[in-house]
Amino acid sequence: MNIKLNSGFNLDTTFAMAESLGANDGIEKRDLEEYSLLADQAFEAIKSVRKGDILSHGEPALFMNLPYQESALIEKLSSIGERTKSRFDTVVAIGIGGSYLGNKVLFEALRHPYYNEDSCVRNGYPRLFFAGNNLDPSHLKGLLDVIDLKKTKFIVISKSGGTTEPSAAFLVVADRLKKSNLTLKDHVIAVTDPDKGILRTIVNQNQMESFNVPHGIGGRFSVLSEVGLITAAMTGVPIQELLDGAKSMDQACQIPDVEKNPALMYAVFCTILYKKKGKNISVIMPYSNSLKSLGEWYVQLLAESLGKEKNKAGEVVYEGRTPIPAVGTTDMHAQTQQHREGANIRLLTFIRIKDFKDSEIIIPDQFQEHAKLAQLSGKSMSQALHAALDANAESLREAHRSSITIEMPVLNAYHLGELLYFFEMATAFEGELLGVNPYDQPGVEAYKKIMTKILS
Ligand code: PA5
Repeated sequence: MNIKLNSGFNLDTTFAMAESLGANDGIEKRDLEEYSLLADQAFEAIKSVRKGDILSHGEPALFMNLPYQESALIEKLSSIGERTKSRFDTVVAIGIGGSYLGNKVLFEALRHPYYNEDSCVRNGYPRLFFAGNNLDPSHLKGLLDVIDLKKTKFIVISKSGGTTEPSAAFLVVADRLKKSNLTLKDHVIAVTDPDKGILRTIVNQNQMESFNVPHGIGGRFSVLSEVGLITAAMTGVPIQELLDGAKSMDQACQIPDVEKNPALMYAVFCTILYKKKGKNISVIMPYSNSLKSLGEWYVQLLAESLGKEKNKAGEVVYEGRTPIPAVGTTDMHAQTQQHREGANIRLLTFIRIKDFKDSEIIIPDQFQEHAKLAQLSGKSMSQALHAALDANAESLREAHRSSITIEMPVLNAYHLGELLYFFEMATAFEGELLGVNPYDQPGVEAYKKIMTKILS
């Protein structure tokens, strides 16, 4: 079974079916029939979430509004990118979790792999570094050693406005700015709750420029909000295209038929493989270094959304598949051995970029006397990359291991927006199928409380 959208986005579930893997490990027609009522209910439940009718800790989950943000906001964000370019040569984004991981995906997937190293490829835009995503002092110290404060803009991102890691980094930065006679107003932009939290108070007290983490947008669903868009705009990413891609995926995700709705279909497949075939590990494996951080982002999305002790009825369920990030081809030389021969408890999701466009390289015909090298000559590197993905999927299939392949036509802002939104919607549907609340994170809050006690 596969779903191909007009954009070229393709979801191929062939190697998750019983025809490919046998009935013990693959999905049979009767499994899909058994889950069809649940899928309909999940679809209806998401319609209510979309309307803002379902509250989690007093807040609705409104990430489905993000593809449709007003053009005035997008223009404001884009203009800030242009403005920053003329005054600053470096931007440092301070944040953690949902206030960091999506920003990193947008940067690594959509900017030149050596963006920070070369001013020509930056096209006048500032370098971008990340901080506040750990309490390890060495990286913050190292960063402060190499940047010129006078030419640096800091973006502090925190929905709550008081998370320990970004707060510590912000305090260090604020102190350094003060000692250099530089102001928060000139050098710091905040992205935080519109009304509450320590960071919002500091913004108001210091007349700092700020953006909002909109009401109803939780950290791991915030990449397409001001949280992710601001750093993308600062590096020249065409942010409207990201939203256009998300919009087209959103429209596909509003089709009630599971065989035409990619996120619902993926969620149903993941749930059947988990509940009926014991595949409780989800390996996300893009075949591209540029999408390495997509795996890290997905880890947070899946783990925090679905890893829950209790279901919505309050019963103890210990729910959720365990996400593992991998990158093809790199991790074929590290994880594939276990994927094929370890316990058969994994679903692999491969991501293929069909066309590498201007980045393509044809392998030249050197050392033709060596048959192994001659075999590569004349082929494009992406041909070899696709062959590696196909070989991995086929080798896993032979060993009755399930995989699903997502193909994106090219890696650009439009198709990345489509992909990110696909995973968000799939996670929302999967939460409904499992009966858990995907929008809270009591397990994260629990350790935060203990840590605050220890520190005080
Ligand atoms: O998804 C989540 O809610 C968390 O991972 C948060 O993003 C993370 O703890 C950072 O929180 P904040 O943005 O409030 O600083």
